[in-house]
Amino acid sequence: MTTAQSNNSKITVYVVSCWIFAAFGGLMFGYDIGISGGVSGMDDFLIKFFPNVYDRKLHAKENNYCKYDDQLLQLFTSSLYLSALVASFFASKACSALGRRPTIFMAALFFIAGAILSAASEHRWMLIVGRILFGVGVGFGNETVPLFLTEVAPIQLRGAVNIMFQLFVTIGIFIANLVNYATSTMHPNGWRWSLGLAAVPAFLLLVGCFVITDTPASLIERGKDEQGKAALKKVRGVDDVEVEYKEIIAARDEAMAVKHPFRNLMKAASVPPLVIAILLQVFQQFTGINAIMFYAPVLFQTMGFKSDGALLSAVITGLVNVGSTFVSIYAVDKVGRRKLLLQACCQMLISQLAIGSILAVNLKETGTLDRTLAAVVVVLVCTYVMSFAWSWGPLGWLIPSETFPMETRTAGFAFAVSTNMLFTSLIAQAFLTMLCKMQAYIFFFFSGWIVVMGLFVIFLLPETKGVPIDSMVDQVWKQHPVWKKLFKNE
Ligand code: BGC
Repeated sequence: MTTAQSNNSKITVYVVSCWIFAAFGGLMFGYDIGISGGVSGMDDFLIKFFPNVYDRKLHAKENNYCKYDDQLLQLFTSSLYLSALVASFFASKACSALGRRPTIFMAALFFIAGAILSAASEHRWMLIVGRILFGVGVGFGNETVPLFLTEVAPIQLRGAVNIMFQLFVTIGIFIANLVNYATSTMHPNGWRWSLGLAAVPAFLLLVGCFVITDTPASLIERGKDEQGKAALKKVRGVDDVEVEYKEIIAARDEAMAVKHPFRNLMKAASVPPLVIAILLQVFQQFTGINAIMFYAPVLFQTMGFKSDGALLSAVITGLVNVGSTFVSIYAVDKVGRRKLLLQACCQMLISQLAIGSILAVNLKETGTLDRTLAAVVVVLVCTYVMSFAWSWGPLGWLIPSETFPMETRTAGFAFAVSTNMLFTSLIAQAFLTMLCKMQAYIFFFFSGWIVVMGLFVIFLLPETKGVPIDSMVDQVWKQHPVWKKLFKNE
């Protein structure tokens, strides 16, 4: 196996355009995460599709923690993720057989179809089918875009380039919060605008597909060696790419021997990245981040902010989320992955424990938090979101995209995407019910998980900063105290 990827690269306008256009896939995903919570809190939307929830909301004085607990309403949020879960496996096939670029193109088309149907919804079923189409778009986009970015990035900037995806996710969430803030006063069709505008990021991605090249690895994997070499020259911005080209050819020749990528995931070289990819995604969701992202407006209303104040607070957390992602872009290839994850565990743990304690003591089933305490909770939510944004958010996507060998890369990454979707939908589905049952103690539940994930990083997650993606076995897994045991017989 090869050892060193050539560092020969120049950052040209074209190279940067490729990164940015592909990253629009993150905007689609983020927009959807941010839009759902706000839409499901809008009265016009509830009256039309969920009249029971609306009734309960009107008489919600009785219980702060339970006013939005409704399985169907939660299904509205979570159905997208279930469809994305299934779609990611089809996307993995498309990604290997057709290439990264056509798969990204399909993602954009599905998403646009979802936006049109959702905005035009007259019946619940239209809404749900719209969500499913959105989901297929997200499944295809999330499977392909992080892989695309990792494969076109020069090694010394791989983390930073991949995190452009997450940066756009956070921008998408933020824009969605702003859109909801504006449309919540547009009666009775504000929610249609919120859902329909999802077509904009998808359209930008579609346009981007005409600018980006397919990745050299994907072209070479499909036997298009000359095109692969030309693409390599384009994404490196230089003509001398011989060293790296030979490395990709060697990785491809090794991968060619593999007929069944899904079965091969059980081989030593793929087991550690598979276990890590799945656990990273489970843990990413068990930080509780989406309880905040989907339901921030609802959550802030629960704490006694009025509708506007609630959306405004959600906008603040949205901005913190975007800003802190830049920290990750700056730091990930310098301080490495592990330190960011561990630092964040400490900061998230302290923030969650403090939020839980304040709410447990001060927010009962009825009544509201006083203004100062409510402001303290907003600050704590910000310190929590901040640390997620420079660690578990971006690295949940980066690490699985850079650790699989070529032969199992798309199949393995599909497990990362589908696990993310499964747990995102579980949280979306369960959070409001859990909030109702566990009340403030829900924050202690998430804190417990944060301790477990810290131990996972300490014992099972090696540092992958600066390691060429095709050299993980020799340089990482075979050197790791736990994972090296898998290679005893090789
Ligand atoms: C996660 C999403 C989350 C977002 C928040 C992403 O990495 O996968 O579930 O909502 O970060 O910024």
